[in-house]
Amino acid sequence: MDATLLDVSIAHKIIHWHECGGHGRCTTCRVRILDGASHLSEPTRREAELAKARGWNPTIRLACQTSASGDVTLERIVLSEATASQLRAETIGREAGSERQLAILVCDMRDFTALADSNSAFDVVHILNRFFEALGDPILLNGGIISHYAGDQICGLFGLDDTNPTRICSGAIRSAFGMVEAIEGLNEELARAFGIRLRIGIGVHFGNAILGEVGHPTLRRLTIIGDDVNTASRIESMTKELGATILISRAVAERMAAGSLSVAETKFARLRGRRNDVELLAVDGFTDPSPFTLAQRSVGRLLNAPSAFATQFYANLFAMRPELEKLFVNGTGAQGAMLSHMLRSVVSSLEKRKHVPIGLQTLGRKHVGYGVELDHYGTFKAAMLKTISDVIGPGPTGDIEESWSQTLDVILALMKEGAGTELRRN
Ligand code: HEM
Ligand code: FES
Repeated sequence: MDATLLDVSIAHKIIHWHECGGHGRCTTCRVRILDGASHLSEPTRREAELAKARGWNPTIRLACQTSASGDVTLERIVLSEATASQLRAETIGREAGSERQLAILVCDMRDFTALADSNSAFDVVHILNRFFEALGDPILLNGGIISHYAGDQICGLFGLDDTNPTRICSGAIRSAFGMVEAIEGLNEELARAFGIRLRIGIGVHFGNAILGEVGHPTLRRLTIIGDDVNTASRIESMTKELGATILISRAVAERMAAGSLSVAETKFARLRGRRNDVELLAVDGFTDPSPFTLAQRSVGRLLNAPSAFATQFYANLFAMRPELEKLFVNGTGAQGAMLSHMLRSVVSSLEKRKHVPIGLQTLGRKHVGYGVELDHYGTFKAAMLKTISDVIGPGPTGDIEESWSQTLDVILALMKEGAGTELRRN
């Protein structure tokens, strides 16, 4: 195939999401064609299948599967991690409805009525929006989608593009821990601006649910139905009574590796509408957090100013190995933005999305063409770790650096694997 639209973006240093590296698997490279559709190649078989299964209208094309023979005007659709994650909702059969095994997370804001009574309408809407933003991100970053909001409640579903119950449940639990952390951050801001602090309760359950788009033809919404959905909501309402922040059901705990969760307390309680007591576990952390956790938590802070981070990184890289500078034939300006963007996306989704490793192998293969050799990777890691400690500044950063070191090892090993295949082929 001629150069694809994705190749053109990369050549022109335009940030263009491509999680699977251009293999027609992740759909994150999709674009909307605004003008010049007649100049585009026909959809490949892979693209045509995806478009049919997901009900795309013909203006949506996969940039990695499409080439152009003349001028085309288009816009990128996926511009953030959150949009990339919400694409999972498309895998649900549109109208037919389907039954799935899912982890269901329900999170509720406590004392919402008091908050609504003592603040102006404008402030209540502002606070609710900040609340939903802070609590929605952990759902999206851990493999879930936001299924709906109900008043002061947010519901996340895990398992739409996965069938492995352990991965599904650990995504939901990681998300619950992320939400507790997010609310602590938000509370600092709300305490300063409004003199309030929010508290939350989270219930997580694993079971079956029917999913489908339901409603009047002019307003269809993703809807989730089933007994297990009600159970998740009832577990959440027990958090207040039992004095716990996160409660999970036995069904969730059984799917997790034995001993992987730190359980503060196990309680038996009667859920509303049930005849028998059920076992609920109050959990407060993983006994052995993933080595990536601290890198994932710090990536936002580190790459907050992506161009400053990149400038510092390239300065460190070239100080350690001056001969690398000549590989960057177009300079490092726009390249830095692409590197920061790629790191952010890869670090947050490394173990959660199956396309990411394939994308990294492809990136490694392409780096052979950029003149990158296998022994450059060690210098890359050293320069990156130095930059991280430069940006984080003085203080106890050992654990964060260790987590980054392990995360970079995984990223670079995948890129080297891809480079190795390319070198053997040449
Ligand atoms: C081993 C050390 C590395 C060196 C010396 C290196 C160097 C380069 C060079 C020379 C280019 C082409 C620039 C141009 O066309 O002007 C490039 C592109 C790129 N690099 Fe690296 N790189 C390294 C590792 C990495 C790593 C670890 C990542 C991210 C995880 C990364 C992400 C990118 C991206 C996103 C591009 C844009 C092109 C594309 O997507 O194919 N690089 N790199
Ligand atoms: S589908 Fe195009 S990059 Fe993944």
